[in-house]
Amino acid sequence: MNQRYAEAPTVIEAVNKVLGRPLRVEPAAVEAKFTHDFLEQTLIEQLLVHKGKLGAFDYVQTVSQGRTLFLGEGNLSFSLALAKLRPTVAKDFTATTFEPARRLSPAALQNASQLARMGAKVLNGINATRLQTHFGATKFHSIIFNFPNVASRTPIYGRNPNHILARKFLRSAAGQLVRGGLVVMTVVDSSFYAGAFGLPAAARFAGFGEPEIHKFKPSRFPGYMHANTLGGQSALAKYRSFSTWVFRLP
Ligand SMILES: C[S@@+](CC[C@H](N)C(=O)[O-])C[C@H]1O[C@@H](n2cnc3c(N)ncnc32)[C@H](O)[C@@H]1O
Repeated sequence: MNQRYAEAPTVIEAVNKVLGRPLRVEPAAVEAKFTHDFLEQTLIEQLLVHKGKLGAFDYVQTVSQGRTLFLGEGNLSFSLALAKLRPTVAKDFTATTFEPARRLSPAALQNASQLARMGAKVLNGINATRLQTHFGATKFHSIIFNFPNVASRTPIYGRNPNHILARKFLRSAAGQLVRGGLVVMTVVDSSFYAGAFGLPAAARFAGFGEPEIHKFKPSRFPGYMHANTLGGQSALAKYRSFSTWVFRLP
């Protein structure tokens, strides 16, 4: 098995080899069944153990390249942490929450004021799956959604709701990127999350190339206090290992 992994140039191609699929994924294969995606994700986890992740993703350098849109920011502490790491680029940030302003926690309101003082735009009630409705023709160099989570396990048309969120978000984000732009998502490393999000399948559905997978170290972002969707224990406190997935259009 390891020999087969080693022969394939990329993780996805290695998975395709193991599954006996053609190396290039044809459009007809895009709508893979959820159970198939789950198996694929589990295999990817195993492959990552063998091939390893890339080093930590350079968020600071990335947000310095142009306009950045942050989605589902919860308490806005991640965008604020990045703004503090590179204050000169805060004016190019659009930091958003899904929740309307009246539902923001006191911490989120404080972070929103700090971001605004640094020159960032802060918007509330922004749905990551409907970006064209919110932003029209405005394009961004980077679109960042950390720890997306719909806090529901009720399947939608037989699919995990977080997978539906991931694919709708990626498809929506694809339309708001400048040429050469990128989408960045950080998620928990676990077979449960991998199966739930099905990110390789979501990326193919939205027209992105094979994602890069990097390590994510929360300690690099002082002040980042991850907030859970419906309160409760934060994933940063509960889990030890996280990955940053980077998606680019071919
Ligand atoms: C686990 S929390 C992560 C919050 C924040 N990104 C962080 O890292 O601390 C998941 C977030 O996803 C948001 N969310 C869920 N569905 C969304 C959607 N359709 N559009 C935008 N945000 C959404 C929730 O409101 C919540 O803030």
